[in-house]
Amino acid sequence: MTVETEAQARKPSSTKAPLLRMQGIVKSFPGVKALRGVSLELHAGHVMAIVGENGAGKSSLVKTLSGAYEPDEGDIEIDGQPLARGTNAAIDAGVAVIYQELSLINDMTVAENLFLGRMPARNGFVRQREAHAMAREALARVGLDNVPPWMRLGDLPLNKRQLVEVAKAIARDARILVMDEPTAALQSHDIENLYAVVRRLREAGMGIIFISHHLEEVFELADSAVVMRDGATVGARPMSEWTEAELVQAMVARNLESFYPWEPRDYGDVVLDVRDLASAPILRNASFTVRAGEIVGIAGIAGAGRTELLKTIFGALPATHGEIAVRGRKVTNHSPTEGVRHGLVYTSEDRKLEGLVLDASIEENVALSSLKALASGGFVSRARKRKLAQDASTRFGVRASSVLQITGTLSGGNQQKVILGRATATNPAVIMLDEPTRGIDVGAKTEIYAHMVKMARAGAAVIMVSSELPELLGMSDRVLVMYRGSIVTEIARDKADSETVIQWATTGAGA
Ligand SMILES: Nc1ncnc2c1ncn2[C@@H]1O[C@H](COP(=O)(O)OP(=O)(O)OP(=O)(O)O)[C@@H](O)[C@H]1O
Ligand SMILES: [Mg+2]
Repeated sequence: MTVETEAQARKPSSTKAPLLRMQGIVKSFPGVKALRGVSLELHAGHVMAIVGENGAGKSSLVKTLSGAYEPDEGDIEIDGQPLARGTNAAIDAGVAVIYQELSLINDMTVAENLFLGRMPARNGFVRQREAHAMAREALARVGLDNVPPWMRLGDLPLNKRQLVEVAKAIARDARILVMDEPTAALQSHDIENLYAVVRRLREAGMGIIFISHHLEEVFELADSAVVMRDGATVGARPMSEWTEAELVQAMVARNLESFYPWEPRDYGDVVLDVRDLASAPILRNASFTVRAGEIVGIAGIAGAGRTELLKTIFGALPATHGEIAVRGRKVTNHSPTEGVRHGLVYTSEDRKLEGLVLDASIEENVALSSLKALASGGFVSRARKRKLAQDASTRFGVRASSVLQITGTLSGGNQQKVILGRATATNPAVIMLDEPTRGIDVGAKTEIYAHMVKMARAGAAVIMVSSELPELLGMSDRVLVMYRGSIVTEIARDKADSETVIQWATTGAGA
């Protein structure tokens, strides 16, 4: 299938080969056909979005382009020239891919990351000054003028590390830039910044492929969109010919019922009681309670302390002040292990920090952490483990050949579902979800929402942090708003509209 972009429509007589042509790409893994003959064309100066549900094959397609996967069938051409196999050939041909999980190395400097394995060198000595000058130039092009090239990468915040990935592509003279869910971990301000960078690169003639689950950004940024489903392209049109409803329809091929399955519930006793909780230097003082059966949303802008609040309650950050009680019993959580023992679970916004063991199976991953809570030294049978993992997988609709599939080979969204399944495997009293639907497709989101409701109905106290305001408002019984490390207000569901929440979140006060 050919992607007709607006530029092509304007210049129908052009016979110039497209910047990139992928033709009939087939790729199988044991038990799944990830790609069933995918074709697409990308032109210079264009942004093409690829959308589709978790496991549709988006990342696999990109990996055949980058040379990370060798396709079973099909051809890839750049400027009409066949692309040789392997990752180095792809890099030399000007292909740069930014994967879902950042590939940078935290313990190296920014410059070393930019030129990974290709630092300018003479007689075996790296030419620092030259490397730093080149690094500065690439950094400036992504708006990171203020980042010193000798800085340790890990000392940069996540949003800047993302831009370093883009700078790395520029430093390598990439002509085709592929971004696999680049904004998944970014806040709105950084997303705007990334958009601006992408637009500049498009202007300069780069061809850009952009994978995203956020349709509003697809409409804002892309010139055309390709929809993938079950390893095939099921639609490719210029953006002007897609409506959001049509895109969603093409992705899921079924009608979504009510998107937020929220409904009123009865509450039980107070399960979580937090008093004057602080964790220097960010979290200042937080007091709130959550009852059994409640879903409480926490809103706030980046840096307001939402994640710090959850982590402090969980025991992943030290409390410098205040008290936490679970079911009326005072707890001091010095570590996440203690938190789990007290019936708390927390799923992090940063998938990498979740401690998913990527080269272990789903079963091992689920069993690993759950068993600590379940077994406490005792023996747990193989069958019990299997059952635990299977329940966790079905609960969130993990798409895998079986629970024995290696976690690292799951699609990104499915890894996220494993995290959620694992966290809830032990029927915790308090479930704290930090950006739970990040990287999750629209269909799977509703499954996760439905499960939040189910957990609440079963008597859990559910707390959700989300930067997606519609989801926060759609799923919460009440919303706590944080501002500069404090909870500044609590808004009941029927009073919680986006204007009110944004007002509090950005100023710390009501209108
Ligand atoms: N190395 C691998 N080994 C086995 N199966 C794999 C491998 N890589 C991908 N798959 C499978 O191929 C299918 C497509 O996965 P892919 O990662 O391409 O999906 P995706 O569209 O990027 O999804 P997401 O939106 O969740 O990131 C999935 O069923 C996945 O489990
Ligand atoms: Mg993917």
